[in-house]
Amino acid sequence: MVELPLIPDQRGNLTFVEGVNHVPFEIKRAYWIYDVPGGAHRGGHAYHQLEELVIALSGSFEVSVDDGVQRSSFTLNRGYVGLYIPATTWRTLTHFSTNAVCLCLASAPYDESDYIRSYPEFLELVAP
Ligand code: TYD
Repeated sequence: MVELPLIPDQRGNLTFVEGVNHVPFEIKRAYWIYDVPGGAHRGGHAYHQLEELVIALSGSFEVSVDDGVQRSSFTLNRGYVGLYIPATTWRTLTHFSTNAVCLCLASAPYDESDYIRSYPEFLELVAP
């Protein structure tokens, strides 16, 4: 979990993130997931190279991560806390609240060939 700067203000809070400074990569892409229907899940894959920081900009959701040996689960529900997910980590996002907005900051542009979408293939790669 990465705690980001929080600038409190009577007019509202402000948080920011700088590539390399707050996350161990240069930010090359941002995408966000929203309007997730109840019970739906996202993710369910890993990446060969991509690193990400995942932040709940609004609402809450759970992120389960698996490096092939260990599994952990995190609840994200604060706009100033992100979850850093290194490469070759299987991730699944579940339990989205109503109006949840999930911001993902990524270390590279979109590249389908970087995805590992088969769990057996993932296990073969990380724990041959
Ligand atoms: P995917 O990464 O599988 O979604 P998630 O992990 O959030 O469940 O992406 C879903 C679709 O969106 C897939 O067809 C690829 C496309 N996509 C892009 O075109 N660009 C992007 O930056 C991302 C993240 C996805």
